[in-house]
Amino acid sequence: MDKIKVSLLGSTGMVGQKMIKLLSKHPYIELVKLSASDSRTGKKYGETVRWIEHGTIPEKFRDMKLVSSSPEDQKDVDYVLSALPPEAAESIELNLVKHGINVISNASPYRLAKDIPLINPEINYEHLRILENKDTKFVKNPNCTSAIMSMPLGSILGLDYERISLVSMQAISGAGYSGLPYMSIDDNIIPYIHGEEEKIPAEISKMYGTVQDNEIKSREIRMSVTSVRVPVKLGHMGVLNVHIDGKVSIEDIINKLNDFNPFKGFTGLYNAPEHPIVIHEEEDRPQNAIDTYNGMEVHVGRISLKDGNLRMVILGNNLVRGAAGITVLTLETMKQLKLI
Ligand SMILES: NC(=O)c1ccc[n+]([C@@H]2O[C@H](COP(=O)([O-])OP(=O)(O)OC[C@H]3O[C@@H](n4cnc5c(N)ncnc54)[C@H](OP(=O)(O)O)[C@@H]3O)[C@@H](O)[C@H]2O)c1
Repeated sequence: MDKIKVSLLGSTGMVGQKMIKLLSKHPYIELVKLSASDSRTGKKYGETVRWIEHGTIPEKFRDMKLVSSSPEDQKDVDYVLSALPPEAAESIELNLVKHGINVISNASPYRLAKDIPLINPEINYEHLRILENKDTKFVKNPNCTSAIMSMPLGSILGLDYERISLVSMQAISGAGYSGLPYMSIDDNIIPYIHGEEEKIPAEISKMYGTVQDNEIKSREIRMSVTSVRVPVKLGHMGVLNVHIDGKVSIEDIINKLNDFNPFKGFTGLYNAPEHPIVIHEEEDRPQNAIDTYNGMEVHVGRISLKDGNLRMVILGNNLVRGAAGITVLTLETMKQLKLI
């Protein structure tokens, strides 16, 4: 079987390094090119990167010379995976797509475009089908918090609810390697993250939307979000409260969360966890320090239903479920759907 050849933009960043780890031993996706900002072009990856992932740089990438993000340097791969910051991504990715190069991207520009699927695979892999007749495929991944918090929402959206209220407590790594000065976050909580409170409801509404005439029509989801930055390195936690008008039992909700796995029966999805949602019964779980190591799973605990108010605490790894892991799982899913 021919491997899918991919290139990685933003390979020296936090998401890029996670992607390198995930792809270094992948059975059918081969990472053949790396790039970063122009000043690193031509340098050997191992000599220029500030490696912060656990373990050492996988051997096969150490001597790989970085190429530019231009169409000339990117044209001979099957897919370009992008972990670029939004400002750089906006023009670089669109330019690649205009040159007929397929792109799967983590960056925010065009996430809400109706003709570009915004994919968190377990939620809406079916949206990928709008790409069936497109010569060049452009796919977006949601924002890290949207990716994590959207996972258990399927258990609520079919119910008669008033308004979903989410408070997200987001790790420092969510802002990228140089995102926040130590002095502003050490021993501190910052009660605002630019753009986040608008992005999360809009992206979740799109992911739970429907396909109509080859476009995505967002679902109406009544949701308010407050996002704060907390001084932990990894893992975004959310406290979700929702008033349920109709009758529902807590057992029904827990069963739905436990049974959630739209990929049952699929093969070859190496980054799809067997249990995408892990329920914790202990009162003091999930915790960032204990439960974010595993990556693609989303952890849910503190589930309660009192006087019609359903509460749950949600936690996920922002670099894996929130970024690199879903990029790779999206590519795996596209292969299974024969879109590649
Ligand atoms: N961190 C998260 O939890 C998370 C989660 C979901 C989505 N995202 C999104 O994923 C993307 C990457 O995030 P990150 O946290 O990995 O950021 P990061 O640590 O700041 O890394 C950014 C990467 O992009 C490269 N780059 C910067 N400007 C460039 C330019 N003009 N041309 C080419 N390459 C350029 C950097 O190269 P140099 O090292 O050479 O500067 C680096 O490799 C962002 O769009 C972010 O919003 C992040």
